[in-house]
Amino acid sequence: MFSFLKKKKNVPQEEQKSVQHVDYEDVTDLANYFQKETGVTFEKQKSILKNKLMTFCKQRELASFGELLKRVDSDEHLKQELIDYLTTNETFFYRELKQIHELVILVQKSLQNVDILCAPSATGEEPYSIAIALLEAGVSSTKFSIVGIDINSDAIKKAQAAVYRQRNVRNLSDEVIAKYFHENNGSYSLKSSIKSLVTFRVENLFDASFKHIGKFDFIFSRNMLIYFDKETKIKAKEILESLRKEDKHPVFFGHADLF
Ligand SMILES: C[S@@+](CC[C@H](N)C(=O)[O-])C[C@H]1O[C@@H](n2cnc3c(N)ncnc32)[C@H](O)[C@@H]1O
Repeated sequence: MFSFLKKKKNVPQEEQKSVQHVDYEDVTDLANYFQKETGVTFEKQKSILKNKLMTFCKQRELASFGELLKRVDSDEHLKQELIDYLTTNETFFYRELKQIHELVILVQKSLQNVDILCAPSATGEEPYSIAIALLEAGVSSTKFSIVGIDINSDAIKKAQAAVYRQRNVRNLSDEVIAKYFHENNGSYSLKSSIKSLVTFRVENLFDASFKHIGKFDFIFSRNMLIYFDKETKIKAKEILESLRKEDKHPVFFGHADLF
C-alpha cells in the first residue's frame, strides 16, 4: 500500500468506496496518448515507460495509469510535467561538428543575413555551438540570428540559463572555453555576449501553431527523429522542410535520424 492510500484507513465506508485501486499495469493508452501529442514512441521500451510512469504517478499520488491519462488530458501543467519527465535531452557542445562546419561555409557564402532554426535545441548546446563556430570563423554576430525550440520546458530553462558541466563542454578546446565561458568550480557559464545571440522557445513541432514560427535559411533538426516511428519521421520532415525560405537548402538531420 502507498502512503497516500494508507491515509484513507479510518475514513467512513461511504468515502472508502471512492478510493481508487492501484493499477499500474497497462501503459498502452498512455503510450498512445504520448505518441499522439509529441511524436515520441515507446513501442520498443514499454517496460522502461511503465517504470517511469509508476514513479511519476506515485510522486503525484495518482493511483492508476488511467487516472493519470484522465488528468493529463485536461491539465496543461501536468501534461507539460509529463513531457519534461519523459523526453530525453542528451546533447553536448560541438556534437557532429562536420555539419556545423558545413553550415558555417554556407553562411560565409551568403550575401544576406541568415536566420537559423535549431529544432530541437534541448538544453542549448547545439545552437550555442553554431554561434561559437560562426564567430570563430570570423562571421559577424550581426549576420545571423538563431532560434532554438524544444518541447521540454526544463530543457529550455536550462538553455536560457546556459550554465554547463564539464561533460557538456568536453569537445571544446581550452582556448574556446576560456574565450566564451566563465569557469567556476567545474561549472561553465556562457558569456552573455553569446547567450544574446540565441532566442529560445518552448514549442511542439506537431502543434498547429508551430508553422507560424517563421521561415529560416538553415534548419538543424538532429537526434529528435530517432524517437519517432517511420510515419512520424516523414511528417516531421515535411513540417521542417515547409519552414525553409528556399527549397534548395537542405535540413540538417542527425546521422542516426534515418528515414
Ligand atoms: C536528444 S535531444 C537532441 C538535441 C540536439 N539537437 C542534439 O542533437 O544534440 C532530442 C530533443 O527532442 C525534443 N523533442 C522530442 N519531441 C519533440 C517535439 N514533438 N517537438 C519539439 N521537440 C521535441 C526532446 O525534448 C529533446 O530535447
